[in-house]
Amino acid sequence: MRNAQKAISYFRPRAIDHRRFFGRVEEVLEARWFTNGGKMVRELEHEVARIHGVRHCVLVCNATIGLQLVLKALDLEGEIITTPFTFVATAHAIMWQRLIPVFCDIDPDRLTISPAHIEELVTPHTSAILGVHVFGQFCDVEAIGRIARKHRLKVIYDAAHSFMTSYKGTPVGHFGDAEVLSFHGTKLFHTFEGGAVLTDNAELAARLRLLKNFGFNGLDNVQYIGTNAKMNEVSAAYGLSLLPAMPRTIARLRRIHELYRAGLGAVAGIRLFELSREVRGNGQYLPVFVQRDFGISRDQLWARLWSRGVQTRRYFYPGAHLCEPYRSDMPWFKDLLPVARQVTETILCLPCYYDLSDQEVARVCQAVAEAGQDGARIKKWYKSLLRSSFGAPGMAPLVQALRRGPDS
Ligand SMILES: Cc1ncc(COP(=O)(O)O)c(C=O)c1O
Repeated sequence: MRNAQKAISYFRPRAIDHRRFFGRVEEVLEARWFTNGGKMVRELEHEVARIHGVRHCVLVCNATIGLQLVLKALDLEGEIITTPFTFVATAHAIMWQRLIPVFCDIDPDRLTISPAHIEELVTPHTSAILGVHVFGQFCDVEAIGRIARKHRLKVIYDAAHSFMTSYKGTPVGHFGDAEVLSFHGTKLFHTFEGGAVLTDNAELAARLRLLKNFGFNGLDNVQYIGTNAKMNEVSAAYGLSLLPAMPRTIARLRRIHELYRAGLGAVAGIRLFELSREVRGNGQYLPVFVQRDFGISRDQLWARLWSRGVQTRRYFYPGAHLCEPYRSDMPWFKDLLPVARQVTETILCLPCYYDLSDQEVARVCQAVAEAGQDGARIKKWYKSLLRSSFGAPGMAPLVQALRRGPDS
């Protein structure tokens, strides 16, 4: 019976009014201006800057390249202190600029880079701190600002998860030297692929505009080693069509959070990750901690939920420092980051998106609660699953085994 139920996806982008989008695409086609700072890109830059009350928004083709451009525009050298608890793109952007990521442990409550640990890692070679506002939580921006001033470091925030969030009433975009949003198709607000650098620094914004367009300043005047990091007009048109839906989307996500809080509140061993009180989040992620008293491990719960048609993600397992090339080239970080290790082994992101129904949230909560009561059987099944499926090439055998579940 249970396999007859429709699987619950981990994420689905919300549907938009197609006509609004197609109307804008028609405008693009009629204008025959497809990229290079056309009308749609300029309008979206204006809107994103206005929403966040920030002076400059520079749209780019994705957040990873956006981070690279900022690192380059700031002329950084040597070591960049960053977090392991992030999508690997953060560390890769540093390496791509031939800089050295120095992984810093995270704060156990915020899950963002720990200021106390940053202080221990600063050396004469450090040129910047790259924090990540993970899951829309803000880094400890005040403490990081103090450390940066003391040691004359630049500060960049990877704000891939933070569209329309704020800290103590100040929207994302005003912290550090620059903050970088992701508009990837799996994000709350997206342009299929895309991103934006937000900054109040006019000089930095001007440099970023050169960098994202091959270094061109005017028609024939190349001033800098640039790249091609521009967003195209159709992507921007999509963003403009999606933008009006954001307030309702965020309101629905907040409601989904309430439903999860109610549904999981009484489940022993499951604790929802909560943003700091000063943070206004966008509700995009719903991480929970699978604690010891739940009876089974995070990985066992993850496997069990997949077998029940509930897709979840182990963000950000195993941590950027344990991805290649960092795992091999910097093996010492494995033992230096106890909080990150504990968090990456116990956190699980549950489905959370606009189209998720109340009934589906209830189904996820029920599946979690049942898993906690079925520990012995799940442990046995998981052991056999490890023996038979993990290590096999590709995801297919694992997914098949997960679907079969402990009852088969
Ligand atoms: C924390 C973080 N940083 C950077 C990125 C990369 O964003 P993009 O896909 O736009 O390059 C992601 C994407 O998921 C992310 O989660």
